[in-house]
Amino acid sequence: MVDTSDEWIIQRTGISERRITDRNTPTYSLAVEAARQAIKDSGIEPGQIDLVLVATSTPDFLTPSTSCIVQKETGAENAAAFDIMAACSGFIYGLTIAKQFVETGYYKHVLLVSSEGMSKAVDWTDRKTCVLFGDGAGAVVVGKVEEGFGILSTYLGADGANGHHITIPCLYMPEEELEKRKNYENKIAVYQDGHDVFKFAVKIMPYATEKVMEKADITLDDVKYIIPHQANSRIIESAAKRLGVALEKVYTIIRKYGNMSSASIPVAMDDAYRKKRINRGDNLVLVGFGGGLTWGSALLRWSK
Ligand code: UT7
Repeated sequence: MVDTSDEWIIQRTGISERRITDRNTPTYSLAVEAARQAIKDSGIEPGQIDLVLVATSTPDFLTPSTSCIVQKETGAENAAAFDIMAACSGFIYGLTIAKQFVETGYYKHVLLVSSEGMSKAVDWTDRKTCVLFGDGAGAVVVGKVEEGFGILSTYLGADGANGHHITIPCLYMPEEELEKRKNYENKIAVYQDGHDVFKFAVKIMPYATEKVMEKADITLDDVKYIIPHQANSRIIESAAKRLGVALEKVYTIIRKYGNMSSASIPVAMDDAYRKKRINRGDNLVLVGFGGGLTWGSALLRWSK
């Protein structure tokens, strides 16, 4: 479709494969599947869920929200539900929201899902973006764990002044957004100033990692894995260098999945969990960055 090569994509991004849903598969179906697996793994019943949160930049509907669809499909009939829009940082924003509800005792169990159908939000004639994104979903159930385990700290940030570097229009299309997409077939597709976002990402990933460790009073020596948003392996390598950490300590799945926006972090975490790479007591730093611009990090001590 576009003038590109496998060599360019691998060298510049580290992406070799992606998962792409067919056009008739709604993004919410990925969310529902991930949610069902997470509920099963948590050992609680759907009726015990108090809140469903879905982080997504690619909802099928503005209303009903994806979280309401997940609530219905999973049988979480006692839960409230709302969506979170924080682009690629959505999972970290969601974890932070879930943490507040559980810590204050307002809710006992929060189901948090990140689900993205990025393939429907790209213009397949734009080589700058169409080679990057993939579809996927990941989910967790957040609840009370033993003292000293779980989400030890989180850190969030935003820079709305630079939001124009990544845009996906919805119900309003200003002239400048149309102009950026003048050669697109899909006029509401994602637009990205790759270079500017790259510069932002290589700074913010190490910064947010350090910030959350500082808040939890933990050093890199005590961290088992950094699990970052999977946007580009060059961003990950540069951030690892800035942090002075070996690449083996940074968990990546980008080669097989591409950039799944907010779903990248939970899918990577699930990959590590299923491969038994994380054990009880391990400290993990999750770090996300992207559209908004937004960023966020979380320090978890694994208990399950
Ligand atoms: O998830 C949200 C956060 N997003 C990110 O963190 C993404 C950050 N940005 C990036 O990862 C990188 O900027 C990209 C992967 C998007 C692009 O890589 P780059 O090294 O910054 O490439 P570039 O945009 O500077 O383009 C370099 C050249 C250009 O050609 P000229 O102008 O030098 O002749 C592009 O036209 O590569 C060309 N190019 C391509 N060539 C072959 C751009 N896309 C492609 C392509 N295949 N797919």
